[in-house]
This record gives sequence, structure tokens and C-alpha cells, in this order.
Amino acid sequence: MRLSNATTALLSALTLTTAQSTTPGYDCMPTCIPSTIPANQTLSFGRHYAVLNLDLINALVGALSNTSAGAAFISNTARWIDAVHAQNPPPLSIFTRIYFTNSHKPEIGPTTPFGKVGGALGTANESDTMIYPAFHVDEAAGDAVLQKTRYYAGAGNGLEEILRAQHIDTVILSGIRTSGVILNTAYRLFNLDYNVYVIANNTIETAPNDPDINTNILAGILPKIPVNVITIEQALAALNSSGPAIY
Ligand SMILES: *[C@@H]1O[C@H](CO)[C@@H](O)[C@H](O)[C@H]1NC(C)=O
Ligand SMILES: *[C@@H]1O[C@H](CO)[C@@H](O)[C@H](O)[C@H]1NC(C)=O
Ligand SMILES: *[C@@H]1O[C@H](CO)[C@@H](O)[C@H](O)[C@H]1NC(C)=O
Ligand SMILES: *[C@@H]1O[C@H](CO)[C@@H](O)[C@H](O)[C@H]1NC(C)=O
Ligand SMILES: *[C@@H]1O[C@H](CO)[C@@H](O)[C@H](O)[C@H]1NC(C)=O
Repeated sequence: MRLSNATTALLSALTLTTAQSTTPGYDCMPTCIPSTIPANQTLSFGRHYAVLNLDLINALVGALSNTSAGAAFISNTARWIDAVHAQNPPPLSIFTRIYFTNSHKPEIGPTTPFGKVGGALGTANESDTMIYPAFHVDEAAGDAVLQKTRYYAGAGNGLEEILRAQHIDTVILSGIRTSGVILNTAYRLFNLDYNVYVIANNTIETAPNDPDINTNILAGILPKIPVNVITIEQALAALNSSGPAIY
């Protein structure tokens, strides 16, 4: 109940302060969410951009593949990943997987808070922690697959080092779940001075309260940071205005 009051306040504040634009995309999912980029504005990610595909692992994606929202999330995200790989040259794509270094799971102790949400996952060789098969990792294109052991995409790995070494200034986020890796990574990379975009169609929340939480984050919280929230249609169009990528 407290959530829904806070939510109402947040959404009404947003309505007063954010310029609305509804096309392309962004009609309703189930609530109408405005893109932060006007529909008639040409969007470019520049040349120093990286595509972050976060926690697309069997344990998380497989659990919702039989729902209609889950199927849409999978098909949009797979389409995006493939379109990025089709760029010439392909930009840096970074995937994250949650897994622990060995069966003792040394990254989480008995009182580590993340253990409550991620502690059931296993090691690198367990199928629950592997990338869901609809999503293609292209090693020849230089895709990086990083281990992670907390919510933030850069927790326990070389993400920040890679972004810095490759002179990346812009990141485009897809992944599961919106309240976990997406929100944590958006805040952290914003604070590190990256231009952050989140593709709304390529994010999803898990039950309970999934559509409400997703809407509140995409329409309420991210634009406040401010982080850009865009549609898959805008992201695909932006690829044509971006690059050639430097990687
Ligand atoms: C992306 O999301 C927007 C907003 O809900 C929707 O209008 C659009 O149809 C979606 N695109 C696809 C390909 O699902
Ligand atoms: C984009 O649309 C807004 C209103 O929706 C309008 O004010 C603006 O002039 C348009 N810009 C271009 C470049 O067409
Ligand atoms: C999806 O599959 C899970 C088990 O994998 C099941 O618990 C759930 O009820 C299914 N949902 C739908 C909508 O079929
Ligand atoms: C997976 O890795 C763990 C530890 O690294 C090892 O103990 C286990 O035997 C491996 N399992 C398989 C199926 O390879
Ligand atoms: C991007 O450019 C390609 C090649 O010209 C074209 O086939 C595709 O439709 C364009 N995509 C968008 C979203 O504009």
C-alpha cells in the first residue's frame, strides 16, 4: 500500500514535468510510458558506445519464457543483440552472467544480503547460469562475457576497466530484472559519467507486482536520474545513425 501511494505521487510528478512523446513505440505496456527522447528526434549513440546485455541467463529468462510478456522480452532482446552484431564494425557487446567461482560460492557468505536473492545460482558450468539460447554471444565480434556476483553489472568483474580502456562514453542497457541489474547499473554508470540508455522493451520485472514495478522504474525513476528510456524501435533506428563504432 505504501508502494502504491509513493507510486501515485511519483507518476503524477512525472506527468507535470516531463514532455510527452508517444511514437514510435511507447503506447502501453500496460501503462503508457513516454520515451525520454522525442519521437521526431534523430538519436545517435556516437562512436564510443557499448551494448550491455545483463543477466540473460537460463534461471531468470527460462522462468518467464512461457508468459506473453516474457516471450516479447525475449524476442525484442534477441532482435536487438542480432542487429548490434550486424553493424560493421560491431561495437563492444558485454554480457553478464551471475555465477559463483566454485561450489563453495565464496563470493557470498552466510549473512551476505545478495545470497537471499542470488544464492541459489550455481557455478559457471551449471546450465541455470548460462546465457539463454535465444541470445547469441558472438565471440568473433569481440563480445565479452563477464561473471558477476551482485546486482550491479560491474560487481566483481572488469566492467569498468573495459569501458575505460575502450574509451566508451555511452552504454545501452538490456536485461533482467529492471529493479535489479538495470536500476543498479543505470545509477552506477550515470555516476561514473556515462550516457546511459535503457531499452524499455528489453527489460522485464518478475512477479509479484511485475508490471507496476516495471512501469514505475521506466516511467518514474530512470527519467528522474536522468537516464534515457527508449523503445526498441528507437534503438534500432539509432544504430543507423551511430558509428562506425570504435572498438
Ligand atoms: C516496444 O514497446 C512499446 C511500448 O510499450 C510498444 O509500443 C512497442 O510496440 C514495442 N515494440 C515491440 C517490437 O514490441
Ligand atoms: C518535434 O515535435 C515537437 C512537438 O511534438 C515540435 O515542437 C518540434 O518542432 C519537432 N521537431 C522537429 C525537428 O520536427
Ligand atoms: C510457466 O512455467 C512455469 C514452470 O516452468 C509454471 O510454474 C508457470 O505456471 C507457467 N506459466 C504459464 C503462464 O504457463
Ligand atoms: C562444475 O564445476 C564444479 C566446480 O568448479 C565442479 O565441482 C563440478 O564437478 C563441475 N560439474 C560439472 C558437471 O562439470
Ligand atoms: C537501418 O539501415 C538498414 C540498412 O540500410 C535498413 O535495412 C534498416 O531498415 C534500417 N533500420 C531502421 C530501424 O531504420
